[in-house]
Amino acid sequence: MNILLTGVAGYIGSVCAEELIREGHTVFGIDNFSEGHRAAIPTEVRFQECDLKDTERLDRVFSAAPIEAVMHFAAFALVGESVKNPSWAYKANVAYGINLLDAMANHGVKKIVFSSSAATYGEPHNVPIREDHPQAPINPYGRSKLIFEQILAEYREWAGLQYVCLRYFNAAGASPERGEHHRLETHLIALLLEVAAGRRARFEIHGGDYPTKDGSCIRDFVHVLDIADAHRRTLEQIDRLSGEAFNLGTSHGYSVSEVVEAARRITGKPIPAAIGARRPGDPAVLVATAEKIERETGWKANHSGLDTIIQTAWEWKLSHPDGYGD
Ligand code: UFG
Repeated sequence: MNILLTGVAGYIGSVCAEELIREGHTVFGIDNFSEGHRAAIPTEVRFQECDLKDTERLDRVFSAAPIEAVMHFAAFALVGESVKNPSWAYKANVAYGINLLDAMANHGVKKIVFSSSAATYGEPHNVPIREDHPQAPINPYGRSKLIFEQILAEYREWAGLQYVCLRYFNAAGASPERGEHHRLETHLIALLLEVAAGRRARFEIHGGDYPTKDGSCIRDFVHVLDIADAHRRTLEQIDRLSGEAFNLGTSHGYSVSEVVEAARRITGKPIPAAIGARRPGDPAVLVATAEKIERETGWKANHSGLDTIIQTAWEWKLSHPDGYGD
């Protein structure tokens, strides 16, 4: 299939591109390099630099290529930053996403897999979280993703769009070639490995007084290769699955303190850590049940053991000490 990936130079988009190419798909890609890295894009990708706010250029991307489906990774994805300034989350994740949907509608492209988030649930009432759990986000990032899920449903009625929403829990891990390199790094495992690599002095646990077993937040980590696999499977079956949302998680949560310990054990580095203040916008617990996607597509979180996640991320860090070097 001819698939266009937005955000193809980003962490998850670039790994998905790699996997789709391996499966024999033809991958077209766009990115504005606000977060992504040119060196992350697989050489086989037919790439054009394009910002989703540039509707004319976007139109040319669709005119120039026989695109059959879209995977929409491009996003503003920092929870903490979205609380400090919501503007970018809503522009990038809602307004510019609408430009993409309109370009698809204008060019008769009907299929899209959307990168949604566990952050759309907010503070859960029942854990592990099922897809029919009420969605009440507690930060602008989560709200922006929820709004776009709702917009997709409207475009399904209005434009005959076929869509699937994949609600990632905490994406982590690396392929041998591609890993996590954010210019502004705020993610737990990436930061721990920076400390392990001697690039930061210490790690701060954001909050030690949550109502959890050790007082730190609990998260459900899903390997980026498993996320890529879910994209491929849901797109291949989108005629049957259109309109559905699926959690990508493992049913198993780890506290931030447990992740710190695991990173120390796997890297063999001391990783100095101390408990600091809570980070506004953080739910105490986010753990998924992924039974629905397992049942509907045969997906399994094959790579998502915490040790495998940290080990693969650490190997990538050691082989790419400066990330993509830009
Ligand atoms: N954390 C720390 N110290 C740090 C960084 C993070 O204690 O220096 C904690 C956070 O407070 C949180 C946990 O580690 O409790 C995970 O934080 P991340 O920033 O790694 O991830 P988030 O859970 O905030 O968000 C991530 C993605 C979102 C996605 C969400 C879904 O960034 O896109 O997972 O759970 F929506």
